[in-house]
Amino acid sequence: MLTTGPRGTKDILPDTIGQWLYVEKTVRDICELYGYKEIRTPIFEHTELFLRGIGETTDVVEKEMYTFIDRGKRSLTLRPENTAATVRAYLEHKLYADIAVNKLFYIGSMFRYDRPQAGRYREFHQFGVEALGTLNPAIDAEIIMLAVQFLKTLGLNDLKLALNSVGCPNCRPVYRERLQEFFRDKLEVLCSDCQSRYDRNPMRILDCKNEHCKELSMGAPNITDCLCDECTDHFEQVKSLLTEAGIEFELDPRLVRGLDYYTKTAFEIQYAPLGAQSAVAGGGRYDGLIEECGGSPTPAIGFAVGLERVLLALEKQALLPGVSQATDVFVVALGVTAQKPAFKLLCDLRAKSIKASMDFAGRSLKAQMKQANKAMARYVVMLGENEVNDSCVILKDMITSDQEKIAIQEIVNKLYAEVKD
Ligand code: HAM
Repeated sequence: MLTTGPRGTKDILPDTIGQWLYVEKTVRDICELYGYKEIRTPIFEHTELFLRGIGETTDVVEKEMYTFIDRGKRSLTLRPENTAATVRAYLEHKLYADIAVNKLFYIGSMFRYDRPQAGRYREFHQFGVEALGTLNPAIDAEIIMLAVQFLKTLGLNDLKLALNSVGCPNCRPVYRERLQEFFRDKLEVLCSDCQSRYDRNPMRILDCKNEHCKELSMGAPNITDCLCDECTDHFEQVKSLLTEAGIEFELDPRLVRGLDYYTKTAFEIQYAPLGAQSAVAGGGRYDGLIEECGGSPTPAIGFAVGLERVLLALEKQALLPGVSQATDVFVVALGVTAQKPAFKLLCDLRAKSIKASMDFAGRSLKAQMKQANKAMARYVVMLGENEVNDSCVILKDMITSDQEKIAIQEIVNKLYAEVKD
């Protein structure tokens, strides 16, 4: 137990961190391009925020939250997602006071107690984007384009963008009734989860993974046939803006997102080769959430991408770049007398911003050279007792294997000229 991490968590080790940094850099570049600013919120929040924000009848709230009582007897929850927390921060810091439309993004860990499998973890990372303050369909199109462009920039093709409108509090009750009517005579044969969804949130029946429930829901009415005029008009505009921007999408009237706050536009981006966990991104409008959290009515929209799934997809398509973490210089010190001058040289090199390392385990020349190779050092500087006595070092070019003797006071400038100029 002491040497095994908790189930559903993963360590990101030095040999893969480069892949994460690469994806995160792509996130930052694209958010800068689209004018989204980074926000960092705490990893835990008051439990109440998620109960109210995400919805008490959702799987996330009912089954998946990591909730604990702290020493001050407060109920806190590790964030299962970051939209509610972003809204909380938006309200707490009155971000609406200066800017009409706040365009924010985040990268960070989320926590859900779910059954771990490939692409599904208990601690996972999301890149998310939230635009708060406008109902303009152009922001829906912008958000969706950002998500698509992010994935395409990484080289992912064969993506499927599924699009729907899930209506608003005006039209949803009509749809709810029609769904209940449709499922009324099937209620007894639905799974127990769906039986409880029937009264509490019948739309969630459409999202049930149980094969029998899936069959029973064939032929269920579509939300898009029940939308009010405002939702219909909004949806038409979003579709037309996306078409104009050349973004391909598939209408999926059965797309129901797993969180309760969605209104109007809802979308998911799937990458089929990932199998069961093919959703790489999901999002939509949440025009009622800010009011639900205590703010004045403010429309908003966003999405989140699962970064582990993106990395899995990149791996499948052999799109992960070999990220080099090479050092410029490796200092090889042999014998006790060489240790101090070698350490001083290491400091002098770094003072000139030359990437430098050395061995601290007092190993043999062969072992140190092996370490220099592993560190992908461009140059090796060697010094032993003779070199210290002669105030010189041996410089080895690791590409040509040429070696030369250089005065110790000249080596930093020489390497600076080689590496930096
Ligand atoms: P979500 O659909 O629950 O939405 O999650 C977004 C993405 O996070 C999923 O498409 C998936 O790629 C990834 N994800 C979810 N759960 C896991 C897991 N257990 N392991 C690995 N990856 C996972 C949200 O979280 C909303 N907050 C998105 C949003 C932002 N809506 C509006 N603004």
